Amino acid sequence: MNDSFSAVDKLLETGNLTDGELLSVLSCQDPGFSEYIGKKAASLREEYYGKDVYIRGLIEFTNHCKNNCKYCGIRRDNKNAERYRLSEEDIFNCSDRGYELGFRTFVLQGGEDPYYTDERLGSLVSGLKNRHPDCAVTLSIGERSEESYQRLFNAGADRYLLRHETADKDHYESLHPAEMSFDNRMRCLRSLRKIGYQVGCGMMVGSPGQTMEHLLKDLRFIQEFKPEMVGLGPFIPHQDTEYAQMPAGSVELTLRLLSIVRLLLPDVLLPATTALGTVDPTGREKGLKAGANVVMPNLSPPKVRGKYLLYDNKICTGDEAAECVRCLASRVSAAGYRIVESRGDHINKHCN
Ligand code: SAM
Ligand code: FES
Repeated sequence: MNDSFSAVDKLLETGNLTDGELLSVLSCQDPGFSEYIGKKAASLREEYYGKDVYIRGLIEFTNHCKNNCKYCGIRRDNKNAERYRLSEEDIFNCSDRGYELGFRTFVLQGGEDPYYTDERLGSLVSGLKNRHPDCAVTLSIGERSEESYQRLFNAGADRYLLRHETADKDHYESLHPAEMSFDNRMRCLRSLRKIGYQVGCGMMVGSPGQTMEHLLKDLRFIQEFKPEMVGLGPFIPHQDTEYAQMPAGSVELTLRLLSIVRLLLPDVLLPATTALGTVDPTGREKGLKAGANVVMPNLSPPKVRGKYLLYDNKICTGDEAAECVRCLASRVSAAGYRIVESRGDHINKHCN
C-alpha cells in the first residue's frame, strides 16, 4: 500500500503523524485516496456522534466592520457594501422562528462593529438566554478584550468562533492590513479558552499565498490548541476586494482537511460550511461524508441576507429560514445522516 494510505491508518491508531507524513496525506493525488480517508474520518465521527448532525441557527446581525481584512466582502473600505444592523426585535424574532424549527443553538455573527458595546451585546445575549433557556448562544464577532469576553460569558454566551485564519505570522500579515495583529488574534483565542467558552478556530482553504506548509502549521496549531470546534471552508473571491481575480480554494483540499481534522481531533464539532456549498452545489453533503457533523443554516431575515456577502455567489441569500431547514434536512439525509434537535455541545464540555 502507498505511504499516504498507511499514514492514514497510523493516524487512526496513534492520533499523530510526522510532518512528512502529514504533508503526504495533505497532497496525495492517488485515485481512491480521498474516498479512503473520507470513509475513515466518517466512521470515526460516527463512533462519537453516531449519525447525528447538529444545526446552528446563524443570525448575521450586523455587517458594519471596523476591520479591513483583504479577503472579506464586508471590509471597512468596501464602499459598495450596503450596511445594516438588525434591531433587537428582529434578532429575537429570528430566534423564536428558529426555535419553532428545532434550533437549539443560535450563532450571532457579525463584523467588528463598535456600536455593539459590551452592554448592548450583553443584553442581546441575556435576552436570548431568557427567551430560550434550553439553547446555546455562540458569538462570532471577532477580537475583543479579555474583560469584554468575560462580560459576554457572564451574560450567558456559551461558545465563541474566532478563526485563527492562518497559523503562520507572515501569511497572516499578508492577508491583513498592518493594524491587525497575529499575536492579538492568538491572545484572543487563549483568553476565550481561559474564560471557559467552547472555542472554535479555523481557516480558509486556498487563501491567497497559502502553501501546504502553512496548512501543516494550521494542523499543528489545531492539534495543540484542541478547539471544541473547527471552521474550515474554501476561500472565495469577492469582486470588491484586491483578491477579486484570485481562484477559489479547492473543494477536494477542503474535504481532505475536514477528514484530517476529524482524525486529529475525533470528537471535534466540524461544520460543513456554506462556503463549501457555494463552490460545489453538493459540497455540504460531501463535507458530511468526509467527517463533518454540523451545518449552519441561515436564520437572518431575507431582507438582509443579500447584504452579508463575504464572497461572491453566496448561496441561500433569498430563502426563508424554513426553506433553508427543509433543503438542508434533505441534503443531510441524502448523505446518510439526520438532523437532531439538540444544543449539540462538545461531548467533553458542560453547559454554561
Ligand atoms: N468578524 C468576525 C471575525 O472576524 O471572526 C466574524 C465574521 S468573519 C466575516 C467570519 C469568517 O468569514 C472569517 O473568519 C473568514 O475566515 C471568513 N471569510 C471572510 N471572507 C471570506 C472569503 N472571501 N471567502 C471565504 N471565507 C471568508
Ligand atoms: Fe470584518 Fe470581514 S473584515 S467581518
